[in-house]
Amino acid sequence: MTTPKILLTRKWPESVENKIASRYQATFNNDDTPLDSAALKSALKNYDAVLSTVTDSLDSDILNTPDKRCRLIAQFGVGYNNIDIKTAAKNGLSVSNTPDVLTDCTADIAILLLLMSARRVPEGEQMILTNQWTGWGPTQLMGDKVSGKTLGLIGFGRIAQAVAQRAHYGFGMNILFYNPSSPSQQVINHYQAQACSSLESLLPQCDFVSLHCPGGSNTHHLINEQRLKLMRSNAHLINTARGDVVDSNALIKALKSGWIAGAGLDVFEGEPTINPDLLKLRNVSLLPHLGSASKETRIAMGERVLKNLDAFFADQLLPDPVI
Ligand code: DGY
Repeated sequence: MTTPKILLTRKWPESVENKIASRYQATFNNDDTPLDSAALKSALKNYDAVLSTVTDSLDSDILNTPDKRCRLIAQFGVGYNNIDIKTAAKNGLSVSNTPDVLTDCTADIAILLLLMSARRVPEGEQMILTNQWTGWGPTQLMGDKVSGKTLGLIGFGRIAQAVAQRAHYGFGMNILFYNPSSPSQQVINHYQAQACSSLESLLPQCDFVSLHCPGGSNTHHLINEQRLKLMRSNAHLINTARGDVVDSNALIKALKSGWIAGAGLDVFEGEPTINPDLLKLRNVSLLPHLGSASKETRIAMGERVLKNLDAFFADQLLPDPVI
């Protein structure tokens, strides 16, 4: 068999790129500019596998490109809402992702945002950076205590459970969750978690709400104006999942009107464009999609893609099949 031709759509950690180069006929994206739709179509025509990321919009128009050479889309990431899976399946493409390896780091970022929002970290930092801080004061920047409070998790998969681990065992928080399928009783007992049968029953009970559901059409604007109004006025909304799970206009309204106290966001509707009104608010903590961004995790994600690639071209089952 000739060595498969592989395209990496973005720059990856060097050690993994070197391994890929030693096993495949690989093309790298050294200047790391995201590919436009013409480049993605050409990638599907000219490579046996395309190694995609969240920044590649592989929609039906692109996936229906005629005369494709590509047989595998191996996503560098656990989420794959950038790929139209139905159209990929219709076109006979296989798709893999990278679960597990980014669980801890993404959970860390959710907890970081929860603390940042509760304890008004961006406001404090801004005060120092702009030379406005005149010293300690008994009523200065009083935020919300985290320990012992109630955290509601929307979705209760791997990342949500890692957040529950940190929140329950680290901060003594009570855990509520809403998940379409029921986790095992053992998992529920471990976090002393309480299942809620609907978002409507979960939201009014929580001091913090953290989103851990997949993106895509099923969860588009799951958190809308009506649901934001159900949250407590002292509550904080944390999003490390996907931007469009939250209606950003409704969130801005909620933050401005005091329906909720704050929000911690790692992902944005329409990212990397960010609604300019969000940037004017003081009660938001904003990060540039850093969930999995540790050296160890990004290398592990690359290694996980490589495992899928190796299996696929050895005619074995994909370790992490999406389809
Ligand atoms: C993921 O793995 O889904 C991260 O959000 C990066 O895409």
